[in-house]
Amino acid sequence: MEIKRIMVIGAGFMGSGIAQVMAAAGHEVVLGDTAEEFIARGRSAIAKNLAGQVAKGKLSEADREVLIGRIKPTTELASAHGCDLIIEAIVENKQAKLDLFRQLEEICPPQVIFASNTSSIPITELATATRRPDKFAGMHFFSPVPVMKLVEIIRGLKTSDATIRVIRDLTDRIGKIGVSVKDGPGFLVNRVNAALRNEVYNCLAEGVATIEDIDKALKFGLGHPMGPFELGDFVGLDIGLAVAETLWDNFKDPKWRPSLLLKKLVASGDLGRKTGKGWYDYSGGEKKTRTDISL
Ligand SMILES: NC(=O)c1ccc[n+]([C@@H]2O[C@H](COP(=O)([O-])OP(=O)(O)OC[C@H]3O[C@@H](n4cnc5c(N)ncnc54)[C@H](O)[C@@H]3O)[C@@H](O)[C@H]2O)c1
Repeated sequence: MEIKRIMVIGAGFMGSGIAQVMAAAGHEVVLGDTAEEFIARGRSAIAKNLAGQVAKGKLSEADREVLIGRIKPTTELASAHGCDLIIEAIVENKQAKLDLFRQLEEICPPQVIFASNTSSIPITELATATRRPDKFAGMHFFSPVPVMKLVEIIRGLKTSDATIRVIRDLTDRIGKIGVSVKDGPGFLVNRVNAALRNEVYNCLAEGVATIEDIDKALKFGLGHPMGPFELGDFVGLDIGLAVAETLWDNFKDPKWRPSLLLKKLVASGDLGRKTGKGWYDYSGGEKKTRTDISL
């Protein structure tokens, strides 16, 4: 099955990036969200990204226009009709995703493939909202999508070989590296990363080192491009907590208990770079140490 027209639902941080890479590979993209303002935000993120590529000489002005022209914005879910593949990238909330897939099931013809970019929610559970679990898979991108090469291709319990083949071909075509991952809470990368992060939070709580020194240690000692707190702020603390809670809810093992400090920051509305404050303070445009973080 050839994928020509793709609907990406959720024009946020991830959805806008996914729309960009799909359009860059020549696909017609419908970018959906619940309100014009969210679509406008997604489109301006894409425009800024592409302007950067033009400035660096990596993309011509003409190609930029063609690429932008391939992305059609919509607030109508009915626009899913006529698409070959739906990629869901809305909030990391199981109920919201189930509701969306239930609606999509009624809109899309049976051959259409559904994929979710969920960070942690089991694909087999999301597929139960549809009558096509064989045509349902995880297509898990990493941020920032135009830069990060990996896509986890997640096979739910009932995902067919044919569906996995279509997703793998598409992953190759957009120039990403696909890895096959069996369904499970947190899949592979986020599960491993959550384990690392939990130990980092333990070290912080025990006073082993400061936030800044932990970030420096993992960058310069293990060669990570970003420290765990910097990365948490970049991805969004709400996303990090949602992953931690999914692991905890599913495994019920104390090793996956979400950090109380992380929960406290999310409850306060400090979600990282997107709100101006997270583990660090970004107000004023530069990264500053916070002195008010404690349990
Ligand atoms: N942030 C990351 O680094 C990252 C990495 C991989 C996967 N993910 C996953 O990708 C998904 C999106 O994350 P994000 O960081 O882009 O979040 P985001 O908050 O930036 O964007 C989510 C978008 O979805 C929209 N939305 C919410 N409900 C909707 C609905 N019912 N219909 C249509 N649009 C709706 C919101 O208006 C918002 O624009 C989540 O499942 C997240 O776990 C995130």
